[in-house]
Amino acid sequence: MKVGLFDSGLGGLTVVKSILKELKGIDLVYVADTKNAPYGDKNKDEILDFSIAIVDFLIKEYAIDALVVACNTATSAAIEDIRKHYEHLVIVGLEPGIKPAVAWSVSKKVGILATPATLGGEKYKKLAAQLSQECDVIIYEQACPGLVEQIEAGQGDAPKTIDMLEGWLAPMRELDVDTIVLGCTHYPLIAQSIQKVMGREVNLVETSKPVAKRLLHLLEQKGHQNIGSNTLEILATGEINKDMITRILGEEYQIEKLDLARA
Ligand code: DGL
Repeated sequence: MKVGLFDSGLGGLTVVKSILKELKGIDLVYVADTKNAPYGDKNKDEILDFSIAIVDFLIKEYAIDALVVACNTATSAAIEDIRKHYEHLVIVGLEPGIKPAVAWSVSKKVGILATPATLGGEKYKKLAAQLSQECDVIIYEQACPGLVEQIEAGQGDAPKTIDMLEGWLAPMRELDVDTIVLGCTHYPLIAQSIQKVMGREVNLVETSKPVAKRLLHLLEQKGHQNIGSNTLEILATGEINKDMITRILGEEYQIEKLDLARA
């Protein structure tokens, strides 16, 4: 099975990593749309346009069987339209794990870190309001502008990043938040910095593993055997931090330059 994935940059590689662990016998092609990154401060129409251009390319050039929108922001802005456009495709998206976070929180205080575009999404807003009411949980939302850029630059534990996190997280720490949702696929890459600022006892919730399991389930329904080895190809529409890729995936990959306007 061929599976296409995309994100604005390195973040979706956290999803790739989980998929490579859970699935066998699949060919992955990953598009990092670094030319248009970050997505989180763009409007819905822009993110939708970026997403459709990538999915068109993956279908035309790679004839993918499945698509993983490895980005919370693009899932929020574009997944409904992508599903309408490509009815035959298996499609999985990434959404902030508010449900497990609400279930795990003992203090009944949950923090959500995500991009402004994700926090402004209709589906997210409805679910957050519904869960906080039904489960009597207080949800503290925090948009993190500039954080994706720090992570892309390999500055996840730099003093400037820690200062940014301190500004966003200190109020949550004081309010006794015990569970934090990493609502952007980039944020698991700085889980250690977040733990350091919050204190060790905080739960961090990310959804790449359940997404990998869901993908496996959907592919098995299509006859996937889950045996054999995996391959991974990485394409980037702009500059990308190759050292970070090696750090995330644990080995070096050749990165192809992708010009979507000419593809
Ligand atoms: N990794 C992304 C997400 O999950 C996109 C972040 C961005 O480009 O702003 O939301």
